[in-house]
Amino acid sequence: MCGIVGYVGKHNPKDFLLEGLKTLEYRGYDSAGIALKNNEETQIIKSVGKIKFLEEKVNNSLLIDSKIGIAHTRWATHGAPTENNAHPHCVGKVTIVHNGIIENAREIKDKLKVNFNSDTDTEVAAALIDYYYDGDEISAISKAVTELTGSYAFGILFEDSDKLYAVRKGSPLIIGINDKENYIASDITAIINYTNKYILLEEGEIAVLSAELVKVFKDGKEIKKDVIIADISAEAKSKQGFDHYMLKEIMEEPMLIENTLKPFVEDMSLIPDLKKYSEIHIVACGSAMYAGMIGKALLEEKASIRVICEVASEYRYKKVLYDKNTLVILVSQSGETADTIAAMRKAKEEGADTLAIVNVKTSTIARETDKQIFIEAGPEIAVATTKAYILQVAIFGLLAYKAASLNNLADEVKKLPRYVKEILDNRDLYLKIANEIYKDNDVFFIGRKTDYAICMEGSLKLKEVSYVHSEAYQAGELKHGTISLIEDGTPVFGIITDDDIRDKTISNIEEVKSRGAKVIIVSNKKVPGYDMEVIVPKISEFFQPILVVPCLQLIAYEVAKLRGCDIDKPKNLAKSVTVE
Ligand code: G6P
Repeated sequence: MCGIVGYVGKHNPKDFLLEGLKTLEYRGYDSAGIALKNNEETQIIKSVGKIKFLEEKVNNSLLIDSKIGIAHTRWATHGAPTENNAHPHCVGKVTIVHNGIIENAREIKDKLKVNFNSDTDTEVAAALIDYYYDGDEISAISKAVTELTGSYAFGILFEDSDKLYAVRKGSPLIIGINDKENYIASDITAIINYTNKYILLEEGEIAVLSAELVKVFKDGKEIKKDVIIADISAEAKSKQGFDHYMLKEIMEEPMLIENTLKPFVEDMSLIPDLKKYSEIHIVACGSAMYAGMIGKALLEEKASIRVICEVASEYRYKKVLYDKNTLVILVSQSGETADTIAAMRKAKEEGADTLAIVNVKTSTIARETDKQIFIEAGPEIAVATTKAYILQVAIFGLLAYKAASLNNLADEVKKLPRYVKEILDNRDLYLKIANEIYKDNDVFFIGRKTDYAICMEGSLKLKEVSYVHSEAYQAGELKHGTISLIEDGTPVFGIITDDDIRDKTISNIEEVKSRGAKVIIVSNKKVPGYDMEVIVPKISEFFQPILVVPCLQLIAYEVAKLRGCDIDKPKNLAKSVTVE
């Protein structure tokens, strides 16, 4: 959600900045802009829509010679996605790009006597920094940010300075280090083609970058920062011949499951013991929350632990009752989702233990939780998560397995990569199913217990990437209202992997079939009487969802492709949701 990239060094930054923006496209955006500066002037160029439009404009009209610049992809919050509202924003001597939301922008606007050109909170922040600017850049930034509430990552240029400034709170921002050029970026992928060395900017710190040096200040004093070496390769973020990142990332699942689970299989003492907790709260957003729902079902069913699973945007504001022995598990691919971070901080304030299931090791959630389990997904670029979700589910399988006091984990896990690979190889079947449903307007997914949690993810994946309306329902609940929407030919996916309630779900499927539904069975056992079916191998219930969801991911992918959708960057969505 919004991407920032900035450069100071020995070259004209135009190409670096445009390339960086393209890498950050996956975060979600609706407009983009760039600012280049030299001693005489600052030139700003913006455009609505794809970065290629900005690129065309830049190539036609970017004239100034420069060695410093900032650029931005904007996901609209305050103000429509127009060129005027796109960043960078310039007020007086200050030009900035911003990721986040300034919550008290209205009050600050009323105080400053400035004619604003946009509807954005960002322009207000620029005006506030300019208001305090009297030749001392660091002082102006610190005075301004102490007045701001909300979240921000700012890249800042001052008319009188040949340096690049950065500050953050809530929203992510890193500082890339290289030889005679330095960078700022929302994440490492934007700069990995140039350097793997970076500094994590913490809240309350201000970074000052020149071509030769990066200095970081806290409370007016320079502080020493560790330089981190990123462990991702430039290759890991390429499509590697696949049509889309989504497809590439799904196809990586067998290898990643093996790599992620291996250390735990070899040494089960690495798996945290959840039995010591009387209550567990699993808190996350989107697919990560649906992975948590599978965790809840397994931990309750198999280990008899009381579990609450809640979306972070609700959890952070509602009254939550904490047992004195509560563990809060935060699930997040990025580790930067604003609501999940807020939920984590609430849990810590309440004295609960916190455990992260997270992909990005340097993220806020990874750094602030008591314990972490890292899913080794590598960079996930497609906005709709696939591989990270599967690995989160695999981790919940491990946690439940250990909590159920079982110990022949190796036997259970050994077959997983091979089975998932076999499932992924069955693409003709998914394309056939996609062909049957891609013209429909409404799709339903029904199942019970763990199968219902699988339905939630199957349904979300389909609607995110293909824009087909879809709903997941507990199979037994459908007849209390939603069954009225079932018409002749309405596609209904029936997910049945749990033997205990198999017959019950089949009865519900019969109910929709007799009302004309086009039923697609996804099961680990043949259901007589249905032709459209995906049959996956039967394995331990702890890991069974890992064999079902990849089929649903591929069906969603094929439907989106048939409908001509922008699969990796669905409209209105952002990969890393850094505002609430
Ligand atoms: C966005 C993404 C989803 C993701 C959710 C939570 O909505 O599009 O794919 O599940 O954020 O993100 P996180 O990084 O916290 O897992």
